[in-house]
Amino acid sequence: MSPTLVPRSRILGTGAYAPAKVLTNADLEKIVDTSDEWIRDRTGIGERRVAAEDEAASDMALHAAQSALEAAGLQPTDLDMIIVGTISADMPLPACAAFLQQKLGCRAIPSFDVAAACAGFVYALSIGDQFIRSGMQKNVLVVGVELLSRVLNMEDRTTCVLFGDGAGAAVLGPANGDGRGVLSTRLYTDASLAESLCIPGGGSKEPLSAAGIEAKRDKVHMIGRDIFKVAVRNLTSASQNALSDADISADDVDWVVPHQANMRILSQVATRLQVPLDRFVLNIERYGNTSSASIPIALDEGVRDGRIQPNQTVLMCALGAGISWASALVRM
Ligand code: ACO
Repeated sequence: MSPTLVPRSRILGTGAYAPAKVLTNADLEKIVDTSDEWIRDRTGIGERRVAAEDEAASDMALHAAQSALEAAGLQPTDLDMIIVGTISADMPLPACAAFLQQKLGCRAIPSFDVAAACAGFVYALSIGDQFIRSGMQKNVLVVGVELLSRVLNMEDRTTCVLFGDGAGAAVLGPANGDGRGVLSTRLYTDASLAESLCIPGGGSKEPLSAAGIEAKRDKVHMIGRDIFKVAVRNLTSASQNALSDADISADDVDWVVPHQANMRILSQVATRLQVPLDRFVLNIERYGNTSSASIPIALDEGVRDGRIQPNQTVLMCALGAGISWASALVRM
């Protein structure tokens, strides 16, 4: 079958939301033993956003979803499915997607979360794409949202400087055969480094106790150096696999919209992929690592400021806890 005839999903609209409160590196210098220079040199991060006390993940997701629906020209009642990539849902139970569905005012449609950490949005996109390709669903809302400020140990300088809060969304619908749409997705997990990036307490293995809370077992623990090493290798190979699935070379990629965890990781991925960094949509300096929200926030920025144009080819790649990683190639 010609690639243009393969049934696929297409991105109909994007949206994003970042909470108003800004936490700068200078602010963090007053909280932990760090410096603006260290954070910028090692990560590329200048500031990040922090949700208001009365904001939950589903509230942030709602703003991003409404904006994506508006861009798509659809109403919440047009949605057939909601998939939310998050590891910081409103509650352990039920899903963040259920609260988002309620706040949007949708019909009774399947709505569920995907816990793939920083790869969550690309996982959600891939799942939504499969449902549309199979003909089971028509309009699928995919969201990446994280409220990581609630699960950070603000005494641990190795993690608290890295992460920020935010949400991004895309509405998927059936492609119309003009060649635009999701061309390929690749999903991976390798648990050999599962404990290098985790929240050890608060689950069924280690229910929270007063001692656990005291020891910050309910907060993010990370051995960043371990993750760094695999990140460059896995992001590169996943991206190359998505390109080869679609028989597209790196030269044909108009924009790379990567998960924004660390500028040094992204520089090395750019070199290995042979795509110059000026073809990457980057916002890590302003938002830090917003985990599953980072790709849809950057995607929405690129679309709204006119860098990403219809028919251009966009490569997304992400890696995070699990270790889970993923890539997606989309003709916009
Ligand atoms: N300020 C000042 N010094 C610091 C800070 C800080 N905020 N954090 C660590 N340091 C110190 C360390 O204590 C260490 O000091 P020492 O040499 O005296 O022991 C020194 O800086 C170097 O520490 P490293 O951990 O080796 O620093 P590195 O260059 O590896 O950078 C970083 C750390 C930024 C975390 C990097 O390893 C990284 O980005 N890793 C990947 C993170 C990632 O991609 N995570 C996945 C996504 S997150 C998710 O899934 C939710």
